Amino acid sequence: MKYNLVEMFVDDEIRRKAVEILDSKRYIKGPESEAFQNEFADYLGVKGAVTVSSGTTALHLIYYALGIGKGDEIIAPSHTFIATVSPAMHLGARPVFADIKEDTYNIDPDDVRKKITDRTKAIVAVHLYGRPADMKELREIADEHGFYLIEDACQAHGAIYGGKKVGNFGDVTAFSFFPSKVMTVAGDGGMVAGNDEELLERIAMLRDQGRTSKYEHTALGFNFRMSELLAGIGRIQLKHLDEWVDRRNEIAKIYNENLGEYAVVPEIPEGRHAFYVYTIRVKDRDGLRGHLKSNDIGSGIYYPIPVHLQPIVKEYVEPEHLPVTERIVDEIISLPMHPQMSDEDVHYISEKVIEFVRD
Ligand SMILES: Cc1ncc(COP(=O)(O)O)c(C=O)c1O
Repeated sequence: MKYNLVEMFVDDEIRRKAVEILDSKRYIKGPESEAFQNEFADYLGVKGAVTVSSGTTALHLIYYALGIGKGDEIIAPSHTFIATVSPAMHLGARPVFADIKEDTYNIDPDDVRKKITDRTKAIVAVHLYGRPADMKELREIADEHGFYLIEDACQAHGAIYGGKKVGNFGDVTAFSFFPSKVMTVAGDGGMVAGNDEELLERIAMLRDQGRTSKYEHTALGFNFRMSELLAGIGRIQLKHLDEWVDRRNEIAKIYNENLGEYAVVPEIPEGRHAFYVYTIRVKDRDGLRGHLKSNDIGSGIYYPIPVHLQPIVKEYVEPEHLPVTERIVDEIISLPMHPQMSDEDVHYISEKVIEFVRD
């Protein structure tokens, strides 16, 4: 493809860092991971962060450390990646799906209220596509009922809501550094972040085999650590994050101006959308995908099958009807979005979209 959906940034500083870490012979539990945790927490403005091996393991550790398991329910959107809920399902908890708001693609707090039972333990706020969810209202619901509020910020590094970065609103937050994300570690990686230092300490211990000292294990833990090599790359990526998110917003504005007449384009919220992906809605989504492909333009669908309709999820949870989620999944299409794109690229891709949807 000439115009890729996403592209990872690699420069000489990253290449040098990789060689430096390989030569250091320190591959795990070293200074890079320690520094990445501190720098990431400072960036968010929270008390602490813990490097982990992926966004999925970040969520797994969060659910496990909060004691979410058999007999518990978590309320989450279905319009998300399955890993928002699958780690809780591994622990025996049941996902209860709430619908989304059509204009934001994020969980609808009114539907969350309808899904509360005496088994509810947590609400999971996914900042889908990089757009902050309604954190004020979700926080109110969680506080009113004494539930945990967990942020799944796997798509929303650098997004801002009410003057603060996402990661400041939940009891604890998960980030992913999967290669396509707003920032990456050039591999699978993740971070747990928050202000509850005791919880973060427990998560750090569980990530490293439940160790309290080299030979003593006081909990049944996991090996969910991040390597030094990846942490070192993540540190350099983090330095670019603000500039990248700003550029993503510029690109989204150009797309919106070009396409607003022809498609449902994303509303740009107050604060800052992270624009992990730029998603529009058109009637003949599959036709448009074919047209773009024939013009060497990549596209994606995040996500064609909502989580409540995934075969494996249906084995555990009787699917209920989520009208907005089910309606939009056949119309959504994500266009190329990454900070290395030029304005000309965005105009060219817009032209090709218009060429198809206008007819
Ligand atoms: C919303 C959401 N949750 C969880 C994950 C899981 O992250 P990872 O792929 O790093 O395990 C992802 C990313 O893939 C995601 O987009």
